[in-house]
Amino acid sequence: MKAKISKFIVPSLKDARKRLTKNTNHIHFKLDEKYLGIGDGKFYHLKTYGCQGNLADSEKISGILESVGYKKTDSDEKADLIIFNTCAIRENAENRVFGELGRIKSLKESNPQLIMGLCGCMAQEEKVVDLIKKKYPQVDIVFGTHNIHNLPEYLENCYSNQGRVFEVYSIEGDIVEDVPVRRDHNKKAWVNIMYGCDEFCTYCIVPYTRGKERSRLPEDIIKEVEQLANEGYIEITLLGQNVNAYGKDFTDRNYTFADLLKDLNNTNIKRIRFTTSHPRDLDDATIEAMARGGNIMPHLHLPVQSGSNEILKKMNRKYTKEEYLEKIEKLKKAIPSISITTDIIVAFPGESEEDFNETLDLVRKADFEGAYTFIFSPREGTPAAKLEDNLSKEVKKERLLTLNKLINEGYAKGNKRFEGEIVEVLVEGFSDKKDTLTGYTPNNKLVNFVGKEELIGTLVNVKIEKAFSWHLRGKLVE
Ligand code: 5AD
Ligand code: SF4
Repeated sequence: MKAKISKFIVPSLKDARKRLTKNTNHIHFKLDEKYLGIGDGKFYHLKTYGCQGNLADSEKISGILESVGYKKTDSDEKADLIIFNTCAIRENAENRVFGELGRIKSLKESNPQLIMGLCGCMAQEEKVVDLIKKKYPQVDIVFGTHNIHNLPEYLENCYSNQGRVFEVYSIEGDIVEDVPVRRDHNKKAWVNIMYGCDEFCTYCIVPYTRGKERSRLPEDIIKEVEQLANEGYIEITLLGQNVNAYGKDFTDRNYTFADLLKDLNNTNIKRIRFTTSHPRDLDDATIEAMARGGNIMPHLHLPVQSGSNEILKKMNRKYTKEEYLEKIEKLKKAIPSISITTDIIVAFPGESEEDFNETLDLVRKADFEGAYTFIFSPREGTPAAKLEDNLSKEVKKERLLTLNKLINEGYAKGNKRFEGEIVEVLVEGFSDKKDTLTGYTPNNKLVNFVGKEELIGTLVNVKIEKAFSWHLRGKLVE
């Protein structure tokens, strides 16, 4: 017998490409009283894959679930509800989720009351939704990145109709304020400043799964940051796929990312980070705002993706290697202590040995202090997935290895420059070793030092004694 389906709205990558309107609705979340208590006595296990955007979404999902009565658990066996918040950026991220879905099927056999949900970027892909509908009957609810706030309704639907719910919108422009948040950390917080991406880099699925670029209003962001500072938070990370495009969608004002940084400079929050930046949109005003320092941390993640102009063009990145390096020079001149990290894709279709060497050359010139490196993964529905893949698996792996070796030298060099310096550390907890505390510096370097438990959650000064490849070791300055 076919499983009953109580709601069925499928996504479409083709529709998701459309950018129909510049106007964004700003709506306020209000929990309908009829959902209060639907989770009473029940436990949820939320599994998060992918980027900081997903981590932030998961904190909202947790907030919503706890406001209707659910309690958090990390145990599959104890859970009455398991939700997978998924990532679609590369094929292996998706395969991991499918593997888990299969593994968890037996849980449902021993506990038929268990509800399983899938959301996030994979839910926005029609091929995934189709597969789940046909081959993964253990999944009860599939919802997309635009309708997290409707989760109580889907759960209620499931409980009352005993049917499956599929509801994924392809085009949606709303910004939903006041969604309850259950933050994972009590000193560091994510703050979304915008959603979606309009860049359409040819390899990337994100503009399809996250929809059009839309910015939260500055007053809402500033209010949230001030509230976080009042609650004792020390560090915030502003989130957006391309934070440098912040405000470009406003129709009633001229207000940019640099303006936001200036305004947040005046709040009481002690540390501000942001991610991710796009090299083309990173403007002088933002560099100036960073150079003013204060609570804006001297670290910039600036994904370059490739050092070959030919490949950058095929990727639709809209800058050249030379322009990228010019920005790096400007940044270093304005903020001499800055640490710059990046993302790089190797083996993009058509990447020649020469193209790859251009990337290595750029890495040497840019002096990156860290990078996330990836082998190109074709994403169905994106333009690059249609290009001929000309390289063998061995060549791809070898290029990644060669690149990583160079990147690791950059990590070590970036750490070495702090030997003998006194740095400020936000203490996060104990490292693997008892009595050794661990935390991050303004430049986002990991520091280990001996100290007492009561320092956790505070800012302390540490004198760096020795730099290792992945961390620094120092001594507390009392
Ligand atoms: N294949 C490999 N890496 C990708 N990224 C995005 N899409 C792909 C893809 N199809 C990488 C980019 C981006 C980071 C978040 O993931 O480097 O900056
Ligand atoms: Fe993807 Fe490019 Fe947008 Fe980043 S800027 S999310 S790589 S399309």
